[in-house]
Amino acid sequence: MHLKDLKHVTSTRQLEDTEILDELYAITDDMERRDSRHDLNRASLRGRLLANVFYEPSTRTRFSFDAAMQKLGGRIIDTESAGHFSSVTKGETLEDTIRIIAGYADVIVLRHNVTGSAMRASSVSDVPVINAGDGTGEHPTQALLDMYTIKRELGRTDNYTLSMIGDLKHGRTIHSLLHLVSLYPNVKVNLASPEELKLPEEYKEYLMIKKIPFEEHFNIESILENSDVLYVTRIQKERFSSLEDYERVKGSYIINKESLWKMKKDAVIMHPLPRVDEISPEVDTDKRAAYFRQAKNGMYVRMALLQSLLKRKNGNENSY
Ligand code: NCD
Repeated sequence: MHLKDLKHVTSTRQLEDTEILDELYAITDDMERRDSRHDLNRASLRGRLLANVFYEPSTRTRFSFDAAMQKLGGRIIDTESAGHFSSVTKGETLEDTIRIIAGYADVIVLRHNVTGSAMRASSVSDVPVINAGDGTGEHPTQALLDMYTIKRELGRTDNYTLSMIGDLKHGRTIHSLLHLVSLYPNVKVNLASPEELKLPEEYKEYLMIKKIPFEEHFNIESILENSDVLYVTRIQKERFSSLEDYERVKGSYIINKESLWKMKKDAVIMHPLPRVDEISPEVDTDKRAAYFRQAKNGMYVRMALLQSLLKRKNGNENSY
């Protein structure tokens, strides 16, 4: 499968092999190189319009799509808090909203609180729909930038141990990333979470089908020392039905200076961000802390993706 075969980006499961990732990451590297030399082709997406349609809060995803589009010369139309400020408050369906926006924009970036929304949107949209997080479902572009970060920071995408920590039930970035991880050989996965926040069965079954060895843990002490990549996530307060349920599990894991002593010298610490208290700020200055670099990578990966999705109509395949 090649980048040119991709129309919508709703789930990482669309990607059947690593070929498409190789293509995307080659463009991403080039975007980064050119940006550092102030040599981006700002004409490449000139005249193209991206609609950011966000029904849930976002900082990184929205801003990085916005920056990515503008750095390539494109423009943005934007509705933050779409659930409050759009016609949804008048009872309009997602499908109608998307059909209308598809008539105005060349690409739609959608974040929604209901799982499956991006898929629904893509079924009625003439222009590419990019899933920027659908409830507790998926967040494919985050996974693309996470995999890119693993590749850059670790120097490889195979033969490593990945430990995922925190809210594995609600963490859509985890759900999307597990599929990408499964495309490469010899990866071992540790899953550490409170009992109530374990990885849902469907994803565990998927790992079994893909023959990815995984272990479930409650404590992180035993997995810190053998992790090559530590992927930490926030306990997602907004997904709990009661505050008490949240209070019971909040602060379950904290990565701090003591954790660093136990970890491998060349480990990589990642987090999709925002963090609450699960990584102490004292970790930030350690060279293994990759999460701010990870967030920056997001912009370049999204530039590469937008370029790939939009260049066909533009006809300037090689100029970015
Ligand atoms: C994540 C999300 O929205 O799923 N944030 C992000 O996009 N970087 C993770 C989170 O909210 O905890």
